[in-house]
Amino acid sequence: MIHTRICEILGIEHPIALGGMPSKFNSPVLVAAVCNAGAIGMIGSTHLDADAIHACAKSIRKLTNAPFAFNSLMFLSDEAGFAASLETKPAVISLSWPRKDQDVADWIKRAHDVGCKVTYMAGDVAEAIRGAEAGADIIVAQGTEGGGHVGWMGTVALIPLIVDAVTPTPVMAAGGIADGRGFAAALALGAEGILLGTRFLASKECGIDANYKQAILDSDGHDTVLTEIPDIAASQVWPGAMSRVKRNRFVERWSGREWLLRQNLPEAVASVRAARKTGDTDEAPLFYGQDAGLIKDLPPAASIIERLVADAENQITTSLAQMIHS
Ligand SMILES: Cc1cc2nc3c(=O)[nH]c(=O)nc-3n(C[C@H](O)[C@H](O)[C@H](O)COP(=O)(O)O)c2cc1C
Repeated sequence: MIHTRICEILGIEHPIALGGMPSKFNSPVLVAAVCNAGAIGMIGSTHLDADAIHACAKSIRKLTNAPFAFNSLMFLSDEAGFAASLETKPAVISLSWPRKDQDVADWIKRAHDVGCKVTYMAGDVAEAIRGAEAGADIIVAQGTEGGGHVGWMGTVALIPLIVDAVTPTPVMAAGGIADGRGFAAALALGAEGILLGTRFLASKECGIDANYKQAILDSDGHDTVLTEIPDIAASQVWPGAMSRVKRNRFVERWSGREWLLRQNLPEAVASVRAARKTGDTDEAPLFYGQDAGLIKDLPPAASIIERLVADAENQITTSLAQMIHS
């Protein structure tokens, strides 16, 4: 059993989190499956209105009594949405991607005032210090290998840099972790837990299109790219991040020709929408991390968690221990 301060703070058995992806990726069913397996499930509240946030919390609570989290993409979250997620009193609020002018301490205080613990995601040291100084209970150090919106620093360098910078605040590692080797490595680098996105997209309970899951299974890990093209197509400026996506036909068409994408936005957006409807994985942004290359099956979330723990324990107690000679 791997037990760290993260388990105590979040009230969970295993120091593992499902990344706070929006409900088009995560669902109450996936969140509850993760929670029932002893880890913490997170789900994005940002793209939901207040009623949908309450309904989402109710659906999760029908399936589990264990702690779960709502994630706010701070730069996009509106006051009503954040207030609604606090009203549901989740055990945890997960915060990520604030604008420079946002008052992080105030968000964290409001979450603490209703009894929530707060995790705060950072892709660089300055952002991690900002979260720790604002009172976050846990900092999530997210490396560029991860799927979705990520910064530029690799996980192996970033984790110890952030651990040192925010001590004594505990750190979870994210980005590029899909198996027990990555879990053990994160612990060795000073993290006390891990947060995973891509691995859980390729789970039985995840409701994404079957073609999306197949693209993750087919990935050799070398087929992603860090690009601003999805944000241009969504007409948004993401503070401190670009997107890690599959280098598919859509991305290759606009690479180096971002100016042209800006000028053909309505047509490009219509084409992305149509591709999403038909599950065409070549003509819309497809978010996943480099760790997709490590993913070969679509097991239930509980098996993913069981395997992560068993394999990490084996790495630490057997494989690594065998390398020590007196
Ligand atoms: C499709 C997708 C959507 C994501 N959306 C969010 C989000 O809304 N909020 C957030 O904090 N993190 C989000 N993430 C990032 C994850 O929380 C996590 O940091 C990342 O997936 C870790 O890297 P991995 O994919 O290699 O496990 C998203 C990731 C993916 C793959």
